[in-house]
Amino acid sequence: MRRPFVAGNWKMYKTLQTARELVDALRERLTEDCPVEVAICPPAPYLLPMQRAVDGTQIRLGAQNMWHEKEGAFTGEVSPQMLLDCGCTYVILGHSERRHTIGKGEDDALINKKVHAAIEAGLTPILCIGEKIDQREAGKTESVLTEQIKGGLAGVPADKVAASVIAYEPVWAIGTGLTATPAQAQEAHAHVRAVLAQMYDEPTAQAVRIQYGGSVKPGNAEELMTQPDLDGGLIGGASLKADDFMGIIKGTIQGKKL
Ligand code: PGA
Repeated sequence: MRRPFVAGNWKMYKTLQTARELVDALRERLTEDCPVEVAICPPAPYLLPMQRAVDGTQIRLGAQNMWHEKEGAFTGEVSPQMLLDCGCTYVILGHSERRHTIGKGEDDALINKKVHAAIEAGLTPILCIGEKIDQREAGKTESVLTEQIKGGLAGVPADKVAASVIAYEPVWAIGTGLTATPAQAQEAHAHVRAVLAQMYDEPTAQAVRIQYGGSVKPGNAEELMTQPDLDGGLIGGASLKADDFMGIIKGTIQGKKL
């Protein structure tokens, strides 16, 4: 069975002080035997202090992005090895804000290079995919997801894909308060799994954990997580407060009947 995975994407929020307070609160409240895997993805400058803060706990550390080269003249970027040195297990790649909001945006070819570099270094990618509202309204959701999966995972072998994480995050639901209905999310996740089965095989498709992201809150987590192909969530706004993040973890445990 896939172990549900809830990760907090802190984006460009928090100070060192408030980051420490949040992790302290999570440490106090997360039990050793929590059936859900939990990770936090702080801004890059806080990775090392947060690694120290989560040391000895079940909380895993992830980065929000990285560059795909080993080293070089890439001002402002961080390498896979640097993330490993900071104690990262995961790295979010292809987040919609990186695809659509920041600078000229990242395309599937660049994201694919990053996925390869992450895996080669021993990091687990959380590959984000998702359609924009006009694409959904034009009935293109499935074709957009297919293209992003095929583009993002091109050349990645089955065993590495099986161990990777995909986050389905409809762009229109991110930070907007609009959430995909459980049925909409399940339909998209089932499609992602079908594409993976077609690209690889059924056991690989069944092994991949697919998180849902986009305005997940304590009030909607349980219902979303009752859906069979949702394996946890990638949480933005609601990961910034211990009560909300814990509420989502609890909702995931209840939804999955763990
Ligand atoms: P949100 O963000 O939960 O604030 O909608 C999710 C994400 O961007 O990963």
